[in-house]
Amino acid sequence: MKKTYLLAPGPTPVPETVNLEMAAPMVHHRTPQFSKIFGEAAEDAKYLFQTKQDVLILASTGTGGMESCITNLFSPGDKVLVVNGGKFGERWGKISESYGLEPIWINVEWGQAVDVNEVKAALDKDKDIRAILVQASETSTAVAHPVEALSKLTRDRDDILLVVDGITGVGVFPLPMDEWGIDAIVTGSQKALELPPGLALVALSEKAWKFADQSKCPHFYFDLKKERKNLGNQTSAYTPAVSLVKGLRAVLKSIKEEGLENVHKRHNRLARATRAAAKALGLKVIAPDSPADSLTGVFVPDGIDGAKIVKSLRDEFGVTLAGGQDQWKGKIIRIAHLGYVDTFDTIVAIAAIEMALKKFGHAVEMGKGVAAAQEILLEAY
Ligand SMILES: Cc1ncc(COP(=O)(O)O)c(C=O)c1O
Repeated sequence: MKKTYLLAPGPTPVPETVNLEMAAPMVHHRTPQFSKIFGEAAEDAKYLFQTKQDVLILASTGTGGMESCITNLFSPGDKVLVVNGGKFGERWGKISESYGLEPIWINVEWGQAVDVNEVKAALDKDKDIRAILVQASETSTAVAHPVEALSKLTRDRDDILLVVDGITGVGVFPLPMDEWGIDAIVTGSQKALELPPGLALVALSEKAWKFADQSKCPHFYFDLKKERKNLGNQTSAYTPAVSLVKGLRAVLKSIKEEGLENVHKRHNRLARATRAAAKALGLKVIAPDSPADSLTGVFVPDGIDGAKIVKSLRDEFGVTLAGGQDQWKGKIIRIAHLGYVDTFDTIVAIAAIEMALKKFGHAVEMGKGVAAAQEILLEAY
């Protein structure tokens, strides 16, 4: 017998109650019954995004939400500043190129957060730049970029937008859209929203909606103006992901009940505990100065193949974590704290890493990481 534990940065575990909600018999989407569900989910999503703006619910993965921002806000030839500090930053640039935009790349060393002064200098040098495209949490490197500081560069100008991929940020740490002046923000269902993959949520500021009026990029399915109009009637332009929307409504209610601040605190506590555990075990944590609370990245000790550890953890121990991508393939382990994850899931992850390291011949004092984490996790009780 082997139990399995899902602690990768998406998809994340889905609570039983939410699974049951989604397993209810299918309903037709153009009905008052479903419109009520859709409307409530969209309304509660405003609480999550900390905005008065509409939050659009798209049947799509997160990348579709990112693409919708590019194609609805900009025009071919527009210059956009891309914060490229990992796989997902790179994705902003690739999507922009696909639609004929001109990305200006700010290449950030993996494991570092972007230097706000560098972004400022780039914007000062070229007043034609129409956007900063950035990740709140760059999942491939476990780094949080300084979104609040970046927002100060754009919020008082009406000719530039701050577009944030909040896919592993929203519902994890504070990203108050209206207060900071974030112009476009995206999340996906399979992260902090505790749902299966298949929904992207997107919100735009007043300024961004003005950009949408000018945009000339081609788009059909992801037509945010059309979606906003339909949302006025508590529906979507095309068939919504009915079951996921039902689940979304349930999760957003539970987030409201817990309180967003407490949700953020929970993620922060799990992240701090995991970082303390790594330190106690002598493992180097990625980005100690700007770690994302969505996941913790640690370098595996020299001489050990991280990919083999992650495989063994998954196939033998039953614990799914994530390894590294591209230049960090085999070099890191990523442990997620996203969504429906609590104290004892985190202890499972740390205990399993200790055991796997020992199995792979690394000198580990077993229980040392767990003990360090427990000290912090106890704060919750
Ligand atoms: C920061 C970030 N952006 C974008 C994506 C892409 O989302 P999706 O795979 O849902 O398209 C992910 C997925 O892991 C992510 O973590």
